[in-house]
Amino acid sequence: MNTQTSKKTLDIAVIPGDGIGREIVPVAQAVLKEAVGDSVSFNYTNYDLGADRYLRDGTLITDDQLKDMDQKDAILLGAVGDPRVKSGILERGLLLKLRFAFDQAINMRPSKLYPGVKSPLADPGDIDFVVIREGTEGLYSGMGGLLRMGTEHAIATETSMNTEFGIERAVRFAFELARKRGGKKHVTMVNKTNVLYYAGQLWLWVMDKVGKEYPDVTYDYLHADACTIFLVTDPSRFDVIVTDNLFGDIITDEAGAVVGGIGYSASANINVTDEHPSMFEPIHGSAPDIAGKGIANPSATVLSAAMLLQHFGYDEAAARIDRAVEADAEENSSRKRSTDQIGQDIIARL
Ligand code: NAI
Ligand code: MG
Repeated sequence: MNTQTSKKTLDIAVIPGDGIGREIVPVAQAVLKEAVGDSVSFNYTNYDLGADRYLRDGTLITDDQLKDMDQKDAILLGAVGDPRVKSGILERGLLLKLRFAFDQAINMRPSKLYPGVKSPLADPGDIDFVVIREGTEGLYSGMGGLLRMGTEHAIATETSMNTEFGIERAVRFAFELARKRGGKKHVTMVNKTNVLYYAGQLWLWVMDKVGKEYPDVTYDYLHADACTIFLVTDPSRFDVIVTDNLFGDIITDEAGAVVGGIGYSASANINVTDEHPSMFEPIHGSAPDIAGKGIANPSATVLSAAMLLQHFGYDEAAARIDRAVEADAEENSSRKRSTDQIGQDIIARL
């Protein structure tokens, strides 16, 4: 893992965003403060971005804001999205924009079934794996075009772009992570090499090349469709999964579901060279159906904040947050509590 060890002051760009984003981000900030004590100070800059801003003045993000954010150590994001804004505008104009502008090539999404949290699976077993999703290439690269729209001869193309460089940084990250986790030490590559023949060959080739450098880590390959089966029939078989942008998007939603849902699923969008800031965010969206009610579960955002600490080498404080959330979930996840109450209960355990 790339870590800028022991930075004493962290400049954090905060995008609370929309809906419950604004309710859960302050809880994560309070937990961060409690977890690190005096060892780190956080210098927060809030950015007014998201649906409200877009509806007010048409701004998604300005070049000046991007430049300004680029100077920060990391970004903490709540969620964006609003039923009043057409789907895709904020996702592409803000989220994908940040991921691409800051070359956040690694989308890291852990899935862990906490004791006390109910999985929809009858016999879930011991689920604890991480998906490493390549974040800047594949079908999400934006290469393609739309011609003759509105006529019978309309054509749409969407090109899957895969580079050895891009694949290798994801695969290498996965092997490093499997080694660092020290569990099964196993990497599973997920793709569709039987039909996505050219991209698939390149992914497999890079896997074998990098795999040779990690004799202590085993690896294998699964087709994406088979992976969706094993995620519900035998999820405990997985340790680290590495995959491309599209498959990663899909299987991490499924993974979030099998570990009891969205309230506990955290993620990091990592710039592996630390040239630009990495971004930490819960997997869920802005939950307009419960926004403003003060009942959103802040745990996923709190766990994302723990990933932020880990990124900067504060493994011990990050692990403490993880344990506090785990213990809180074990005791309380079936009770109805307010967002603030959950935050206080987590803090009380630190
Ligand atoms: P969602 O994740 O916002 O909500 C799905 C369901 O889960 C809802 O019933 C919601 O109440 C519940 N939920 C989500 N987070 C929760 C939490 N922390 N505590 C308790 N319940 C929670 O997904 P949905 O409804 O599809 O999307 C809503 C908006 O969010 C859309 O505009 C979408 O584009 C956006 N979105 C944004 C993301 C981001 O900012 N990274 C990711 C996913 C969706
Ligand atoms: Mg998704």
